[in-house]
Amino acid sequence: MKTQRVEWFREAKFGLFIHWGLYAIPAGYWKGAKVNSVSEWIMKRAPIPVADYEKLASQFDPVKFDADAWAQLAVDAGMKYVVITAKHHDGFALFKSAASPYNVVDATPFKRDIIKELADACARHGLRFGVYYSQAQDWHEPGGMGNDWDFPPDDQKDASGAFDTYLRTKAEPQIRELLTHYGPLALIWFDTPVRMDTDDRARRFIDLVRTLQPNCLINGRLGGVGDYRSTGDNQIPSEASDTPWEVPATLNSTWGYKRGDHNWKSPGELVFKLVDIASKGGNYLLNVGPTAEGIIPVPSQENLRAVGEWLKLQGEAVYGAGRSPFGEEYGEPAQKLRNFQNKPVFLPYRAWRCTTKPGKLYFTIFELERAKGMGNFAFPEFKNPIKSVYLLSEPDRKFEVKTTPDGRRYFNPRTFGANSIADTYVVEIEGDSVVR
Ligand code: GLC
Repeated sequence: MKTQRVEWFREAKFGLFIHWGLYAIPAGYWKGAKVNSVSEWIMKRAPIPVADYEKLASQFDPVKFDADAWAQLAVDAGMKYVVITAKHHDGFALFKSAASPYNVVDATPFKRDIIKELADACARHGLRFGVYYSQAQDWHEPGGMGNDWDFPPDDQKDASGAFDTYLRTKAEPQIRELLTHYGPLALIWFDTPVRMDTDDRARRFIDLVRTLQPNCLINGRLGGVGDYRSTGDNQIPSEASDTPWEVPATLNSTWGYKRGDHNWKSPGELVFKLVDIASKGGNYLLNVGPTAEGIIPVPSQENLRAVGEWLKLQGEAVYGAGRSPFGEEYGEPAQKLRNFQNKPVFLPYRAWRCTTKPGKLYFTIFELERAKGMGNFAFPEFKNPIKSVYLLSEPDRKFEVKTTPDGRRYFNPRTFGANSIADTYVVEIEGDSVVR
């Protein structure tokens, strides 16, 4: 059952994460002062009392919100699924909820169910739809974890039963609403599982999901056993793995919209990360933070569309591709350089990455000069005879494979085109998989 459930996820590889909510209004500033934190944590970092923060709801009126435009952007970027923050740590819900009036339909002038509109738009655009839900942290609720500036510290909420009351009366009912009112959910993205590993707190969420939507995936941050591993934020492991995993990542340095954060990753960097992650058997969940009006920042749109252009020509090397059969391409521990634990520093190597399909290896070359020792690309060692080598973006363009006297096989890749981010070469081999 589990393997079947994650199949689409392992094929998809690339998804859109959307952090949106009341925090888009202050956008990183409170009372004119910049708050040093990711924007969605402003309520805790400033800190802002519930009485002041919840007033933002009366200002939340994103008239430019267009669910179809967001779904279209995901399609243009080559993404296969979308995950939006249905409720983040601040406790505000982007959907109609009977469990709490602190939601977009009941508490704002906007009055529209954003989760409903985006779920429908994703269905129209052939995208799978999932939601992020902060199950433990809820800074609006006396029993929720995390708000110790209005309410007692977390351990008292735990000891007094207030946390369990919050779970029973808000979190679980809202998860039930999300699983029953918005069509099929591809996954639920839980987060920061504070005190979720005691009693049966996590188990109750798993049972809800398994009962109401058996195919809905659970990520790795519930506090119980999920369907796949969630890495730390922007944390890409240095080696491949055979079990499913996903890295949540930012396009700049924040998840929610933050005025003035222009620290954008370039399209080249994004494509590298996507292929690096795919070659290690993982998924890339890349985030946008829309403004309070409902606009996804233009640099985010442009960079995502540039990735989509690259995938149009070379997506075969990513979607449904298997992990690299090698590993030496990721880098190695330094000979001399040591970290504070006296462990060798890992020296990453980024020149090329490899993904696979039966009978095919996809070598994506990023740093031509580094990849081309003395002008040629040397294959890592494997025994399978090579049948052909061609450019994925121009299949008729074949390349001759040569062998050095000591048996090392190589070929001479083309020089990069003008705006080329990276070139993928298809190496057809005898046999379905690599024999080393
Ligand atoms: C962290 C941040 C949270 C964000 C999440 C995304 O948990 O605290 O704000 O939503 O990462 O991965």
